[in-house]
Amino acid sequence: MSIERQALDGGHTDGERKPLPFTLVVFGASGDLTRRKLVPALYSMDRRGLLPEQFAMVGVARRPLGDEAFRNGLREGLHQFSEVGAGTRWDRLDHQVSYFQGDYQDAASFEALKRQLDELSKEKGLGGNRLYYLATPPEAYAVIAEQLGKAGMGGDWTGGWSRIIVEKPFGRDLTTAQDLNRRLQAVFSEDQIFRIDHYLGKETVQNILVFRLANGIFEPLWNRQYVDHVQISIAEHIGLEGRGLYYEEAGALRDMVQNHVIQLLSLVAMEPPASFGADSVRDEKVKLLRAIRPYSSKDVLRSVVRGQYGAGTVDGQLVPGYREESGVAPDSQTETFVAMKVLIDNWRWAGVPFYVRTGKRLPRRSTEVVVAFRPAPHSAFRNTVTTGLDANELILRIQPDEGIGLRFGTKIPGPTIRIQDAEMQFSYGTFGGKQPEAYERLLLDAALGDSTLFTRRDEVEAAWALTTPILEAWGRVDSADGPAGGAVGNRDVPLPVYPAGSWGPAEVDRLLAADGHAWRNL
Ligand SMILES: NC(=O)c1ccc[n+]([C@@H]2O[C@H](COP(=O)([O-])OP(=O)(O)OC[C@H]3O[C@@H](n4cnc5c(N)ncnc54)[C@H](OP(=O)(O)O)[C@@H]3O)[C@@H](O)[C@H]2O)c1
Repeated sequence: MSIERQALDGGHTDGERKPLPFTLVVFGASGDLTRRKLVPALYSMDRRGLLPEQFAMVGVARRPLGDEAFRNGLREGLHQFSEVGAGTRWDRLDHQVSYFQGDYQDAASFEALKRQLDELSKEKGLGGNRLYYLATPPEAYAVIAEQLGKAGMGGDWTGGWSRIIVEKPFGRDLTTAQDLNRRLQAVFSEDQIFRIDHYLGKETVQNILVFRLANGIFEPLWNRQYVDHVQISIAEHIGLEGRGLYYEEAGALRDMVQNHVIQLLSLVAMEPPASFGADSVRDEKVKLLRAIRPYSSKDVLRSVVRGQYGAGTVDGQLVPGYREESGVAPDSQTETFVAMKVLIDNWRWAGVPFYVRTGKRLPRRSTEVVVAFRPAPHSAFRNTVTTGLDANELILRIQPDEGIGLRFGTKIPGPTIRIQDAEMQFSYGTFGGKQPEAYERLLLDAALGDSTLFTRRDEVEAAWALTTPILEAWGRVDSADGPAGGAVGNRDVPLPVYPAGSWGPAEVDRLLAADGHAWRNL
């Protein structure tokens, strides 16, 4: 293991990173997330030897399921969602899993859950350590935390350690996020709360900081003197996948920008932290978020583009438009695409635009960061023949084809000076083996009490402070009657339709063309 990797891991090697015995208590355990992500992650951790011998998982949900039916559902999920399926190793884990039927509104359920967890802990030697995972609809998050507190299972539990993981979405806007933070912190202290953004669990996202800070050659260039602009794209080719009701309420800004896009932006633009401790890293991210120029409602018109997909062709298949999807209103105003120009008012980035975009039903699934450098100060070769010569670019490919590319001009062999763009490629595939899934890394860190890759209270609120004015200008915040006198209102902000399978509405190209730039093809 390299020194850089050890630093990110807080000094542990993979072999040392094994948590103490604990119980994972999953609320919403009969749902999609548990089957699709959590259990495959646990299984993979177990296969890698990252779960302690003394481990138990208790799934909590309302529907009547016995232990057997619950385990069978998880086993089926493993066959469907885990690359390795449920092999013999699952037999061990299978015996550690049980089901508790309970109602989140009912205090008696939590008393009974407490008794069951206490018994289990004694029986299996789990040391009273508990990791709660909130995988329910978000309305239940605060209620569950409060019920845990009332039953003596909150942050002041003295029988062992106690931590709580909270899934996204974390609030709908700044006010609801603040309210959720207040209610969670009434029961758990900040260092016991783990707000998940699974992007931070991705190897290639963590590598952004390693790449910047462990290599002496790039960090000196990472500023307004050498960087012309930055592009961050998270493109999805899928549509709603049966989640129309959820997406109608969320939209692309809440679903992707407030969390994943802003996390990528923070890691690319933040100042180097003094160490990789949880607070050092998150202090710098918060400082960066606070340096981003806020959007007035007029800025929303100028610097933010939204769109909604219409019918079109993706992967050779005809697909319906957003408004024809199940669970979506025929006159829906929900955006499925957002692009924004972001300006950072600090010493390092003054005047350097960051362009971000994310959308559904785009031509392909791709997440990447492009750092475009300023051209050479003097073109000694201006009278030579050049083909396709662009600015130097550093491309951090987050997914798929994880890797890094560097584009530069090079001489085409021959008797005259002819210059052409070339790209040097590094692929994560060269490490061999399968990269750990994001949820695997995050579950492990939470079990170890390491919150570096989780979002802190002030961080989540800073991200909402930035995005809520955009929702207000679009009329998509429940509490707002619309923006204050004279400001831009929803009717003024266009919601252009783009054909599924295209790169978004034409306005998105104009956003960059106004500055003399163009989106890089993904
Ligand atoms: N699925 C994903 O890939 C994914 C990805 C990122 C984030 N998330 C987030 O994770 C959470 C769970 O997502 P999911 O896809 O697993 O949802 P889901 O399939 O609808 O499952 C929700 C779970 O919560 C329980 N539940 C439903 N309504 C409830 C209510 N009113 N009060 C209490 N419990 C209730 C359900 O079981 P019972 O009805 O049996 O109680 C079920 O176990 C959501 O907040 C979602 O935004 C999901």
